[in-house]
Amino acid sequence: MSTLEIRDLKVSIDTDAGPKPILKGVDLTIKEGEIHAVMGPNGSGKSTLAYTIAGHPRYNVDGGSIRLDGVEVLDMSVDERAKAGLFLAMQYPVEIPGVTVSNFLRTAKTALDGEAPAIRGWIKDLRESMSALKMDSAFAERNVNEGFSGGEKKRHEIMQLELLKPKFAVLDETDSGLDVDALKIVSEGVNRAKANTGLGLLLITHYTRILRYIKPDFVHVFVDGHVADEGGPELADRLENEGYDRYVSAAAAAAAVDAPVGS
Ligand SMILES: Nc1ncnc2c1ncn2[C@@H]1O[C@H](COP(=O)(O)OP(=O)(O)OP(=O)(O)O)[C@@H](O)[C@H]1O
Ligand SMILES: [Mg+2]
Repeated sequence: MSTLEIRDLKVSIDTDAGPKPILKGVDLTIKEGEIHAVMGPNGSGKSTLAYTIAGHPRYNVDGGSIRLDGVEVLDMSVDERAKAGLFLAMQYPVEIPGVTVSNFLRTAKTALDGEAPAIRGWIKDLRESMSALKMDSAFAERNVNEGFSGGEKKRHEIMQLELLKPKFAVLDETDSGLDVDALKIVSEGVNRAKANTGLGLLLITHYTRILRYIKPDFVHVFVDGHVADEGGPELADRLENEGYDRYVSAAAAAAAVDAPVGS
């Protein structure tokens, strides 16, 4: 069984005022087939965690590890991470001018598998995935994300998830800006991917709405760069009702104790 294990992960970014620590010791273990929801206030470092797993060069890893089946992911290039089975759906997906959805997906699939998919089967898979996600077939010939609406971008990401079949996926606010129907369609896509491939999922979200369709096995509360609490699906409801106040004040109190005198 595959496992993605994040241990004591510390990450900083370079700013004009010098390095700024963002992740301050993240511990999180995801097993194949498990769904982990990560919830937490704005600016707590959730996207930073997602980008660090994906290998974005802007984030400096100062300590800790991310192991995929015991192998250090932090030593891998971005390509190697994708090949090893990691997938990131970004909070703000990028446009790729001049590259059609169809070409992009086929190139990605070829790079992952080490050989091009047989054309017939591939076109069938592509069509099936688009129709399941209720995407117009004209999308295949449009440039990646260019002029896509928010919801269309998210559907395109779930399409990648279905066709590229990663072992572990990080979805960063995939539910933001989706209308009720799109939320359902996107959630069904994620659930299909999980059922078909045993996908393990890290689902970053601000809303319990999506968790009604994608049932989390675990909920993690992310505050000030680390996991401040963990529980089952009931924790998400509690957060919705109570907010993050008690975690945020606990983090502020801990920071005050840690801070050097006079700072
Ligand atoms: N270039 C930068 N300079 C200063 N601070 C930065 C820079 N880049 C990121 N940060 C800070 O890093 C922190 C973590 O950001 P991140 O995007 O990971 O938060 P998040 O939990 O995903 O928030 P949200 O829920 O709003 O998406 C924020 O306080 C952000 O302002
Ligand atoms: Mg974010």
